[in-house]
Amino acid sequence: MNTPITSAMERPGAAQPDTGSINPAIRKDFPILGRTINGKPLTYLDSAATSQKPSAVIGAIAEYYATSNANVHRGAHFLGNEATAILEDGRNEVAGFIDADPAGIVFVRNTTEALNLVASVSTAGLGEKDRVVLTQLEHHSNVVPWQLARERRHFDLQYIRVGDDGQLDLEHAALLMAGPTRIVSISHASNVLGTLQPVEPVIAAAHACEALVCIDAAQTAPHRKLSVRDLDCDFIAFSGHKMLGPMGIGVLWARPSLLERLGPFLGGGSMIDRVDSLTSTWAEVPHKFEAGTPDVAGVAGMRAAINYLNAIGMENIAQHDLYMGTLIRQSLEQIAGVTVLGSEQAATGTVSFSVAGVHPHDVATILDREGIAVRAGHHCCQPLMHRLGVSATTRASSYLYNNPQDVSTLVAGVRKVIGIFA
Ligand SMILES: Cc1ncc(COP(=O)(O)O)c(C=O)c1O
Repeated sequence: MNTPITSAMERPGAAQPDTGSINPAIRKDFPILGRTINGKPLTYLDSAATSQKPSAVIGAIAEYYATSNANVHRGAHFLGNEATAILEDGRNEVAGFIDADPAGIVFVRNTTEALNLVASVSTAGLGEKDRVVLTQLEHHSNVVPWQLARERRHFDLQYIRVGDDGQLDLEHAALLMAGPTRIVSISHASNVLGTLQPVEPVIAAAHACEALVCIDAAQTAPHRKLSVRDLDCDFIAFSGHKMLGPMGIGVLWARPSLLERLGPFLGGGSMIDRVDSLTSTWAEVPHKFEAGTPDVAGVAGMRAAINYLNAIGMENIAQHDLYMGTLIRQSLEQIAGVTVLGSEQAATGTVSFSVAGVHPHDVATILDREGIAVRAGHHCCQPLMHRLGVSATTRASSYLYNNPQDVSTLVAGVRKVIGIFA
């Protein structure tokens, strides 16, 4: 028999966050949530991979192409100016969303491209005596770009250790900082465990030794009010598609003074001031880092996403995600044979778990038959998988449109999995 969901939240001592932060009627804003999958209503629990899109975002993209499409910055005509205004207004909107100076906002395709940019341009001049520090829970997109840069620059690459609960070992961080650390690049929240990382002390320790700090905010920009001023980081990267925006648009913010100092990443149109046959000079920041035709429709969609998130309120979203993460975690923990990974706080609504004797891919396949979309595998975090001693997990990740009914459906699905394999 299924345990009623409410009982998980009523357990003595269980955290009981307020559930009433988001109006459940917002589900109607997301057309895809009305779909049936394999004859069952869709239960979408894969938002850490990508979020679903409200009609406002879908409409903003269509409207851009229907009414304003033209290339930017070079048009001497009305539409070119209109498209440029959409791009630059979007830059201002994104800057406001993270409490930043618009001159530091570089539009890229996604978090991965932003991190490649940082790893490429910020390591120029580093050598064998210099150190770059990551953590054991990074997504591959905050690992591989640094490995590629290391092949060229031969710096020392170190990883802050992570405890069994998935939390950063701050003593080890301090130890690594004491060396010749030049750059620290860390994720703000784990895409596997849903835990928020204590980035503030790491940023303070890094700055005390004059190292630059890059924050991978792919998993926090959708869930938390971010302020680059409060965080005091040097770079921050995130993707539009995880925060209700379209795929193909992402953001790198860097201190404008830093962008001025660093060399460009990609070369081509829009990023130059003057081109001679052997040398070129660069456009002002942030355009120096935006080579080629930008994704203006993506910016229009991202702007609509930010407006949507702001209308709901990032504080309400954070509260809802903590509630959902806690509910998923506590509900799964009540099922015999299920182990939930990581510490108690699934702050971003993301929970990884394993079912004894069942491969995560089989769990996900059977859940899919029930219309439940979860993810199984290493989640692009093989170093963390090695650290936790597993090869894969099943991951359920919720967002502002999920509700306790989705958790009940997940719990019933997992019980079915266990029933099939028992
Ligand atoms: C923590 C983290 N960093 C980086 C990425 C890469 O994001 P994208 O695929 O949008 O570049 C992801 C995607 O899941 C992520 O979760």
